[in-house]
Amino acid sequence: QELRLNIEQIEKGGYDHFMLKEIYEQPKAIRDTYRGRLLREQGLIKMAGVEDNMKKFLNADRILIVACGTSWHAGLVAEYVFESFARVPVEVEYASEFRYRDPIITDKDVLIAISQSGETADTLAAIKLAKSKGAFVFGVCNVVGSSISRETHAGAYTHAGPEIGVASTKAFTTQITVLTLIALRLARAKGTMTSSEYRTHLLELELIPEKVERALESDSTIKEIAAIYKDSPNCLYLGRGYNFPVALEGALKLKEISYIHAEGYPAAEMKHGPIALIDEQMPVVVIATRKGHYEKVVSNIQEIKSRKGKIIGIVFEGDTEVKGLADHVIEIPETEEALSPLLTTIPLQLLSYHIAVMRDCNVDQPRNLAKSVTVE
Ligand code: G6P
Repeated sequence: QELRLNIEQIEKGGYDHFMLKEIYEQPKAIRDTYRGRLLREQGLIKMAGVEDNMKKFLNADRILIVACGTSWHAGLVAEYVFESFARVPVEVEYASEFRYRDPIITDKDVLIAISQSGETADTLAAIKLAKSKGAFVFGVCNVVGSSISRETHAGAYTHAGPEIGVASTKAFTTQITVLTLIALRLARAKGTMTSSEYRTHLLELELIPEKVERALESDSTIKEIAAIYKDSPNCLYLGRGYNFPVALEGALKLKEISYIHAEGYPAAEMKHGPIALIDEQMPVVVIATRKGHYEKVVSNIQEIKSRKGKIIGIVFEGDTEVKGLADHVIEIPETEEALSPLLTTIPLQLLSYHIAVMRDCNVDQPRNLAKSVTVE
């Protein structure tokens, strides 16, 4: 027993929990994921699985993305990125819904399946269905040799390393990294991005790991915020555009590990329902990065404030407007809006982590959840 505890201690590398270790591993995980693929000086992106199947990607009428849980959120971010960079229509589906609704799939479709474990039963079933209808199926998995990586026609691994914490963290950011690389490669091939935009994105993507490191420096501020809201029964997360899926993911993280009821919403949808919930008891986490519908999100913040909600703003460094309105702000380094989910996610992971620890929850193995769901 004692020996086992010691081994676990060593595996956690000095961190109290695997989740915290994995949050802190993200700079390295993202770098490992783009290493050898993002060749900035040559202005190239090299991914064998994409290169070998370029015709299929370029001839596709649309891209279908299927996944579950956090991987589905990465798919939603990818929808925004693919459509804006490569101008290809994208549909994102829960694998569990897709597989049972007799979806229309043809041999002109490309289906991308995203899965950390590569073992999720619903995602695997969606892949088999798409293959039987003639679609080209591409996998984005973390676990090498997993069922999904074997079942797909081609793929690109995330290089996050083993993820032990049930709540996914580094798998999410590395999935977004891989999908962004693919979108940039397609944009280059299709000419849907100017070469200066393309180069800016390569450069900014390369800088993400050090910016994640800087985002992690807010840890102690986030811990103080966590201490204030740890007993809240509810929490709302709002974001727009690229950061709408990040709001969903932030809410999922909080639910999963702290058992606080949380909901993520596109900020503009607040007025169609969630606004009724806002009172002085309600913490609202708002992602308000300066480049993304900023003024609109600021007016959402004013609406929350006038109803006495408590605002935790996630902002780019140097922001003054949100700072003047919010109860708390957490700063992240500035980047291109399309890449901002890789940074805005970080404080949300830390916030849920600290709240869960303060509530004495089993952070790495939350009740009723499993790391890989191999049953439907
Ligand atoms: C489970 C895990 C989640 C994960 C989801 C999809 O519910 O607890 O963290 O996002 O499965 O898993 P996958 O391995 O397919 O990404």
